[in-house]
Amino acid sequence: MNYKNILITSENGISQITINRPSKLNALNVATIQELHDAFQSLDENHETQVIILTGEGEKAFVAGADISEFANFSIEEGAQLSQQGQELLFNYVENLKTPVIAAVNGFALGGGLELAMSCHFRIASDNAKMGLPETSLGVIPGYGGTQRLPQLIGKGRAMELIMTAGMIDAETAKNYGLVNHVVPQAQLLEFTKGIATKILRNSPVAIGKAIKAINDNYKDGVDGFKTEIKNFGKCFGTEDFKEGTTAFLEKRKAVFTGK
Ligand code: COA
Repeated sequence: MNYKNILITSENGISQITINRPSKLNALNVATIQELHDAFQSLDENHETQVIILTGEGEKAFVAGADISEFANFSIEEGAQLSQQGQELLFNYVENLKTPVIAAVNGFALGGGLELAMSCHFRIASDNAKMGLPETSLGVIPGYGGTQRLPQLIGKGRAMELIMTAGMIDAETAKNYGLVNHVVPQAQLLEFTKGIATKILRNSPVAIGKAIKAINDNYKDGVDGFKTEIKNFGKCFGTEDFKEGTTAFLEKRKAVFTGK
């Protein structure tokens, strides 16, 4: 597929999506959101890809937010539609993929940029990264899941403060808050992230997909995550990966998983 706003590379089971609008600090316009949806869908369906890394082009920004120039003149209905379509197409979509998605946050992750990083399964930041949800400074609220995922990740009080002040936190603070798992020098960000992706590659893709679903169900209204865990735990017993994993352990060899 031909993309105008993103780049994709794949090697040894790890695919990297790079948002490529550096002159606009990789701001998310509607076209980029659609391209990201298409890319995530095709990588998730492609069995060669076992881990996806999402990052931004350049040294300055992961994503500096939704593209403000696109929605400045929107009506109430258009605003609600922008939020709903974005959540469905990209933010909820990424969170619920069966393939692990790691955000490599290489600079500013603001507004929709932080919301996108929070939709990924976990985050690693470069030491120059800055994160925040500055929407209230524009007279709007976060619309791509930020009011929901930020309190889940850092707690209600901290999320309230960050959203009300429209402030930014640095990478170390983000790590202390639990928003990112690791902070590394910018030059090492992708290598470090690929190192973690490589550890994931050793494990059963089918089990990882079921674990993602069970963890996510903890945060869904009206869904009992413990029941999902029981169901998915049981389903694993019917997979080739489970037979291979347990047999390899008993035979004292490394498992070779097929994801079936
Ligand atoms: N939407 C659209 N364009 C954006 C953008 C966004 N969210 N963020 C940055 N850009 C554009 C700027 O308009 C500028 O374009 P131009 O050169 O054509 O004028 C370009 O990216 C570079 O940004 P600039 O503001 O000149 O860089 P800076 O280093 O002075 O400041 C930021 C960096 C991140 C502090 C600043 O760009 C910013 O505050 N961006 C908006 C953040 C935000 O409010 N995001 C939430 C949106 S809901």
